[in-house]
Amino acid sequence: MAHKHIQIFDTTLRDGEQVPGCQLNTDEKIEIALALEKLGVDIIEVGFPISSPGDFESVSKIAGIITESTVCALSRAVEKDIDAAAEAVKNARMPRIHTGIGTSDSHVFSKLRTTREHVLERGVAAVKYAKRFVEDVEFYAEDAGRTDNEYLAKVLEAVIEAGATVVNIPDTTGYCLPWQYGAKIKYLKEHVKGIDKVHISTHCHNDLGLATANSIAGIEHGATQVECTINGIGERAGNASLEEVVMILRQHQDLNFDTRIQSHQLKSMSELVSTRMRMPVQPNKAIVGSNAFSHSSGIHQDGVIKSRETYEIIDPLDVGVHESSIVLTARSGRAALKFRAAKLGFDVEREQMEPYYEAFLKLADEKKVVQDQDLLTLFSS
Ligand code: KIV
Ligand code: ZN
Repeated sequence: MAHKHIQIFDTTLRDGEQVPGCQLNTDEKIEIALALEKLGVDIIEVGFPISSPGDFESVSKIAGIITESTVCALSRAVEKDIDAAAEAVKNARMPRIHTGIGTSDSHVFSKLRTTREHVLERGVAAVKYAKRFVEDVEFYAEDAGRTDNEYLAKVLEAVIEAGATVVNIPDTTGYCLPWQYGAKIKYLKEHVKGIDKVHISTHCHNDLGLATANSIAGIEHGATQVECTINGIGERAGNASLEEVVMILRQHQDLNFDTRIQSHQLKSMSELVSTRMRMPVQPNKAIVGSNAFSHSSGIHQDGVIKSRETYEIIDPLDVGVHESSIVLTARSGRAALKFRAAKLGFDVEREQMEPYYEAFLKLADEKKVVQDQDLLTLFSS
């Protein structure tokens, strides 16, 4: 059976760029947008044009350059925001306006200090207004994760009726558990008239470390678009990580979903975003962290040397990492030392290995990680 296509909506340049200290200039944003297009991202959210003249300029420049991905701009449910978004994406080959409003009690009553009816009216008016400029209008119900399902369904039905082509269900505060988020999407699929004509989008934050799991639960219950960022960057604890979502769907073919992401570009994409944003990737980050394919304990090294699959579920080449690495530490065994020595051209028989191994352990206790240069000295002596 053909896999169902899941659209990847990358918001590295919008939600991701909200990380304090990680702002990018226009040239850096263009470079990242072009790399995202090449990666195979379906929709690139490039900014929030009303927020600053610089952001407006980047969105409009990118809109004029990108041809293979939809170019999306964010707005609140406010006419002047929508005007700015529309003006900024007007030269895009495939423009989208992303507009919306908070729907949880906390947003309706505390932040907006209004009524549920008024929020619904503003959402509908915003979608209708955005439709004057573009066909493709996405509506977000901010804090949908904590919004009462019955009210959320009412709002979504009304915005779909008003012309929304995508409905975004953000778990803005990263509050939901995967089964709760999945059940929310299922409820909406079953209770919102017209929902089958539009895409349902996930937008999950990572405050409890569940953003990726929640996105997958959303897909399993009917979402067809996932909002995510490279390296999972974004407000507070970040967003669902693009590379994790993509590789989960690739590794679990039995789920019958796939994206059009060129996965072998994931590592270089991660490095590009990390460098331009001056935001290091944690070494143990899934898929793209520097330790994601490195093995340091003797037991694991022995297994990987015999057969990579013993301790790796992903072929590193599939995500653009050239090879698994065998890191030599005081926890490494003889098999790993022999393997690394052979790579440097020293073919040492097992029986001759002992003195080298003892010397190696002493060095490893001193140095923590033994490098090629150390091995060259060790085996040449
Ligand atoms: O987290 C959120 O709710 C958002 C919306 C603006 C889509 O980023
Ligand atoms: Zn967000």
